[in-house]
Amino acid sequence: MGRHNFLSIRDFSPEEIRYLLELASEIKSHPSAHTGALKGKTLAMIFEKPSLRTRVSFDVGIQQLGGFALYLSNAEISLGKRESIYDVMKNLERMVQAIMIRTYAHEIVEQMAMYASIPVINGLTDFSHPCQAMADYLTMLELKHSVAGLKVAYIGDGNNVCHSLMFTGAQLGANVWVATPRGYEPKPDAIQWARQRGQQTGGTLTLTEDPEEAAADADVIYTDVWASMGQEKEAESRRKIFAPYQVNSDLFRRAKFDALFMHCLPAHRGDEVTDEVMDSPHSVVYQQAENRLHAQKAILLELMQYREVLEPARKEEFAHR
Ligand code: CP
Ligand code: NVA
Repeated sequence: MGRHNFLSIRDFSPEEIRYLLELASEIKSHPSAHTGALKGKTLAMIFEKPSLRTRVSFDVGIQQLGGFALYLSNAEISLGKRESIYDVMKNLERMVQAIMIRTYAHEIVEQMAMYASIPVINGLTDFSHPCQAMADYLTMLELKHSVAGLKVAYIGDGNNVCHSLMFTGAQLGANVWVATPRGYEPKPDAIQWARQRGQQTGGTLTLTEDPEEAAADADVIYTDVWASMGQEKEAESRRKIFAPYQVNSDLFRRAKFDALFMHCLPAHRGDEVTDEVMDSPHSVVYQQAENRLHAQKAILLELMQYREVLEPARKEEFAHR
């Protein structure tokens, strides 16, 4: 595939997304075939926000491939405060072979990728969560066998998870519906991109304020927290605004009889989803979480396995001798 970074689903062609999902599925079926593929390679993981799944799945994933993960919290590096992003990258690229970052502004991951000669992976920004979407569609493929034409209804906040779900749905030809309260819609450029890519793949994107319309005959109902990391102060006011968007049994009943319930987790049970739905046989949330591991192993392999021994910055240095 020859890609250098994994920053956004939008950077890839539909064929590349399909290829990565196939690779993830192959890795899941034959994990031992890839043991040692990243022997001696280190992934630095920078977390400016908390995490369970992202941290564990990247750490375990690279270990299973023979590599090593290094956890760096904001307390250690204080990106942009203790040291500029440029200097952090110029140091890290000499010691590790790839960087995964979870941060706030999406521009930070873009800047990091611009400065570094090693691959950068987006482990969630305020704008998107591409690794999550890869695991989500891997799960849909496993359970529904094809994504093209599926009605994927996202109900809640038009946030980072929603954007990546829209992008990947557009890449794979899904009919994505997004139901949000007014003022909480996905970003206009995200809507525009998904619709444009859909013209190429047969995918559609429909926005509504009516959760029942979105849920009607859906193959998948997806929700996420109403207040994302960094929006803690808005949690109370959002709880009132989003109350009609709760995924409960009444709403879920409108979907197809064999619909899946999906959530990226962590879930706030009793807010965006009830226990009844979350613990129902329709719920595939833990399979989704496991698939983070397999999807990210595919991303790590693709970005790190075929890289030359000498990184470009080092090569440049030797060229001057
Ligand atoms: N879904 C997800 O990214 O979970 P964490 O925030 O726990 O990493
Ligand atoms: N939208 C959530 C996703 C967490 C995985 C957040 O950004 O907090």
